[in-house]
Amino acid sequence: MNITYYGHSCFGIELNGKNLLFDPFISPNELAKNIDATTVKADYILISHGHEDHIADAVSIAQRTGAKVICNWEIHVWLNNKGVTNTHPMNIGGKWKFDFGNVKCVAAAHSSSLPDGTYGGNPMGFIVESDEANFYYAGDTALTYDMKLIGDYRKIHFAFLPIGDNFTMGIDNAIIAADFIKCRKIIGMHYDTFGYIKIDKEVASKKFENAGNSLALFNIGETKEF
Ligand code: NI
Ligand code: MN
Repeated sequence: MNITYYGHSCFGIELNGKNLLFDPFISPNELAKNIDATTVKADYILISHGHEDHIADAVSIAQRTGAKVICNWEIHVWLNNKGVTNTHPMNIGGKWKFDFGNVKCVAAAHSSSLPDGTYGGNPMGFIVESDEANFYYAGDTALTYDMKLIGDYRKIHFAFLPIGDNFTMGIDNAIIAADFIKCRKIIGMHYDTFGYIKIDKEVASKKFENAGNSLALFNIGETKEF
């Protein structure tokens, strides 16, 4: 399947003919200034939590595309109040069958409030199960021992993990997370966007390699086949 990086933690994934868009934060991202958020495709928008750097373009892209937004209850209510009504509320532990595959919501150790200060509910990660592949999108999270449950639950073919440190786990903890979820193919996210989360990409790749993993770091705008 094709995966396109739109910067920070925002990825577009083509799965079973549907375009999934995760955590849209494009127009305020200086590093993504060559991406035009008004042309990004979406049939579904998945939002891990309410922070600005994960939701900034959600309302505009949802309104333009009519995409269904998959998120927690509190973000669903907030979006509905903003006129985005094609939403599917979920919460941690829950699974739902969509036409592209299943989405299971899992815990993320982080916080969540919406850009206007509204309570954002609990942050989540997503496990997407499909006949093409299963993958884990961690959202913003610390390393947690609960990640072992993900490795026991499903064969995870690849995983999106935050590696920028400071607000989430960093490189060394993400390598442990890869062990916990029993997945060797990691896609890095949540790095370089802000001063606090700048990383040395070469060091990161080397560390993952030394641990027997591969770390894919996309250029913004780049599409890779997974
Ligand atoms: Ni966050
Ligand atoms: Mn974040």
